[in-house]
Amino acid sequence: MRIDIISVLPEMFTGFLNESIIGRAQREGYVEIHIHNLRDYTKDKHKRVDDYPFGGGSGMIMQIQPIADCISHLQSTLLSSKGESYDAVIYTSPDGNQFNQGMANRMSQLRNIIILCGHYKGIDHRIREKLITEEVSIGDYVLSGGELAAAVMTDAIVRVIPGVLGDSQAALDDCFMDNLLAPPIYTRPAHYDGFGDVPEILLCGDPKKIREWEIQKALERTLALRPDLLEEQ
Ligand code: ADE
Repeated sequence: MRIDIISVLPEMFTGFLNESIIGRAQREGYVEIHIHNLRDYTKDKHKRVDDYPFGGGSGMIMQIQPIADCISHLQSTLLSSKGESYDAVIYTSPDGNQFNQGMANRMSQLRNIIILCGHYKGIDHRIREKLITEEVSIGDYVLSGGELAAAVMTDAIVRVIPGVLGDSQAALDDCFMDNLLAPPIYTRPAHYDGFGDVPEILLCGDPKKIREWEIQKALERTLALRPDLLEEQ
């Protein structure tokens, strides 16, 4: 998979991209992530990418020219180098569709995606109408920019690409995978003074019984804490 992220703050991605599962997934060739500085595409001599809103009001609006030129450059480069096109051009915005595990799973099956990070007051609406295929929010709150949203999405998408997590079951067992919260988990020691014992069943050695117990507990926790997830099915 290839993920191209367009941002006015590309430095925000450096640490995060090289660490942990995302770093390994890139080194092992499961995903290519490219960060593009939107300012490299502006024709403005002062490197500006924003301007005042028509009709007045506060805040600045990201202009069409740098975004359209950047996306067009990425599209023609991908076409000429690999003969491929982008499956989705995603815009991060608080008024987008709320990101969830199902979206991460679906996006992880795409071959090439662009994520455009919103900034300032947002982008000129004509970009949304003409170039954006999907608008995504990571929650009902306003961030200073779309970079953290793009990072959250990238992390959630990359970890479910088949093969990225060493143990092939690991992602399948994640919270939310079947619209269920994960069951309670324990590690050694089996008894800890003041904290009690691990549930007996986890020590029985019968994988089928353990799995049944886990599903039961996952259902109980979901019913108690996030009943809305069960209604979604
Ligand atoms: N940009 C600002 N706030 C955001 C949010 N909640 N989700 C996605 N992008 C954003």
